Amino acid sequence: MVFPEFRGRRLRRNDTLRRMVRETHLRVDDFIYPMFSAFGKNIKKEIASMPGIYQQSIEHIVAEAKEVHALGIPAVILFGIPKEKDAVGSDAYSDSGIIQETIRAIKAEVPELLVITDVCMCEYTDHGHCGIIKNGDVDNDETLELLAAEALSHARAGADIVAPSDMMDGRVLAIREALDENGFEHIPVMSYAVKYASAYYGPFRDAADSTPQFGDRRSYQMDPANRIEAFREAQLDVQECADFLMVKPALAYLDILRDLKDRFDLPLVAYNVSGEYSMVKAAAAKGWIDGDRVMLETLLGMKRAGADLIITYHAKEAARLLNG
Ligand code: PBG
Ligand code: ZN
Repeated sequence: MVFPEFRGRRLRRNDTLRRMVRETHLRVDDFIYPMFSAFGKNIKKEIASMPGIYQQSIEHIVAEAKEVHALGIPAVILFGIPKEKDAVGSDAYSDSGIIQETIRAIKAEVPELLVITDVCMCEYTDHGHCGIIKNGDVDNDETLELLAAEALSHARAGADIVAPSDMMDGRVLAIREALDENGFEHIPVMSYAVKYASAYYGPFRDAADSTPQFGDRRSYQMDPANRIEAFREAQLDVQECADFLMVKPALAYLDILRDLKDRFDLPLVAYNVSGEYSMVKAAAAKGWIDGDRVMLETLLGMKRAGADLIITYHAKEAARLLNG
């Protein structure tokens, strides 16, 4: 099969042929849309570095949840901006916390929309770290108890899936046990299994108001240089009975997505993070790129790399384009 008898261009001649031999497809079913729920009333504040994404109070969240559902997007993932933060992140596991109230409000109005919750402490602690501080660092084992309590309280409020993003050791099992002991054995755990200490989270930390007040997250999130360690992290989460594995961020880690897809048989999620979104929006606003095309190409690249699902701030605009 060599030139000139073989010609690769034969199958690229027109759109119908290209459609027939297309290997990867983006579908609205692939998307999970992140939302930021803020305590209060009548709040809808655009995040400066993330055009089109808002901190919103519950009534606006519910309105957007309806819109997301109408577009055919199957799920949202919720982040909370509580009324008050403290050293132990009390709002995170309070049954009247911001996320718990938001879950109940969405489920009352749009029950078919799947609600995933981000399980972490950084949005609720006054120091902005993802757990309890002891001797100047996040204490792993004490944090596990709070994460389990947080996940359980999300489940009690009606969450469909819980997604721990803290990167504590042993948290998937701690959460699984807490759920099972309380009658929530049917609630899946979507583990942020491979989460790197990334500068791409910058805009999110403005959105969720969760910038660490001292130090950084490198004692718990992974070193961006490491690949073999990603297999170890994913393997541990599989052993702890995670139902989904996630790689985060996505764009600079497409190799890791492919590796995990080849090695593990759980559904694989890519988190197309805030900084990745902001870069597309900024370049498009300057007229330097075609924002829609770059967005779709980027999302397609994540699927081609092995993602089954993509958490993306682009979900609504991508769905509109795909729905035609
Ligand atoms: C909380 C959390 C973060 C993101 C998701 N969950 C921030 C962080 O770890 O600092 C980042 C999402 C994004 O950048 O879009 N731990
Ligand atoms: Zn966190």
